[in-house]
Amino acid sequence: MTLADSRRNFLKTAGLLAGATVVAGRAFPAMAAAKSGEAGISLAECQAMSPIEMARSSVMVQNAWKSLQEEIASIRNPSLRASIADIYGDPTPRITQALDEKTRRQIWQELTAKNYTKQALADVLPAVPNDPGTVMPFDAAPGSGYQSHHAYPGGLVTHVATNVRITSAIVETYQNVYGYRVDRDIALAAQLLHDLHKPYVFQWNDENSSRTEQTLAGTGEHHVLSAAELITRKVPPELVIAMISAHQCATTDDDEKILADWLEAAAIVAGVDPVAHGLISTKHRLPEIPRQEGFICHLGDHDFVLSVPAVKTTLPVMRQIAAVDYKMSEADLNGKVFNKLRNRVYSTYSAMRIHEEMTRHGKEGVRRLMSRSVHPV
Ligand SMILES: [Fe+2]
Ligand SMILES: [Fe+2]
Repeated sequence: MTLADSRRNFLKTAGLLAGATVVAGRAFPAMAAAKSGEAGISLAECQAMSPIEMARSSVMVQNAWKSLQEEIASIRNPSLRASIADIYGDPTPRITQALDEKTRRQIWQELTAKNYTKQALADVLPAVPNDPGTVMPFDAAPGSGYQSHHAYPGGLVTHVATNVRITSAIVETYQNVYGYRVDRDIALAAQLLHDLHKPYVFQWNDENSSRTEQTLAGTGEHHVLSAAELITRKVPPELVIAMISAHQCATTDDDEKILADWLEAAAIVAGVDPVAHGLISTKHRLPEIPRQEGFICHLGDHDFVLSVPAVKTTLPVMRQIAAVDYKMSEADLNGKVFNKLRNRVYSTYSAMRIHEEMTRHGKEGVRRLMSRSVHPV
């Protein structure tokens, strides 16, 4: 079993290939109301906060956001740097803009004919809230489906900031140990952009959980749609290939075929010929020997091996504590009231930090962090 296979199987087992998200309100209530994530607030204040307020009042999320801005600034190619900054500034998809009904139907028919989707026409490309409005800001989006690894406001930012640091370290390590340097711009840009459509796909909903993701070409739809977005925005094909390798690297011939499926599906959404565009070969493989930036992007997208169990381990304990310390009823625990509490606590500390605290101090460690973020009632 290759590493890629292991990732795919792991995600499948964990039920993560169909993830979940919402739409944060577009108007930002005064940030003054959203006290610092480290300061601690009442449960009532927590219940009044939007996902945007939670993300923007979290010291952890804002530090990660700042580090991402610095990484973007370190990209040498000016047009690439500008494209990334553009997407981070407004991740609203261009792939659905100016898409008339006829073209939308053609895309759906082509994806269905290739067996890349079994969804109904209306479900293939998620609707943008308040169509033709905008999606939530990049820094407020969750980084995964709601039961998965970074399911909290700002989770996308912490996930990508982690990945980008790992990716940068791999590039440096290869230089220091082996004496050669890959294309750092491509490796970093691929990682910075690898989940660019999570704000679109994992929209916050009224329950303060997030939309359930569909599968497209055998992987989470955010992945293929992110690649389609990059094609639409005319980034070089080698960057699209490096980015699409986040979920699967080209270790075997079968792996390459899977990558070619995803690239073809992305090309269908973007309305280009994948062969003429330099994305795949006529043999339905990658157009050239797979480049190392794709492997490095894939290696850098692996914090789920820890962050998924961190959520699975801590969430049931947080629910137990919510029932006792926050006096939540069964209905509260299964809906918006608990979701707001867990969003705030994870957004303040991350599931990984709470997990570490739990491994050292058990339930009391979790209780301590929860009470620091939101005071018990
Ligand atoms: Fe992804
Ligand atoms: Fe990712």
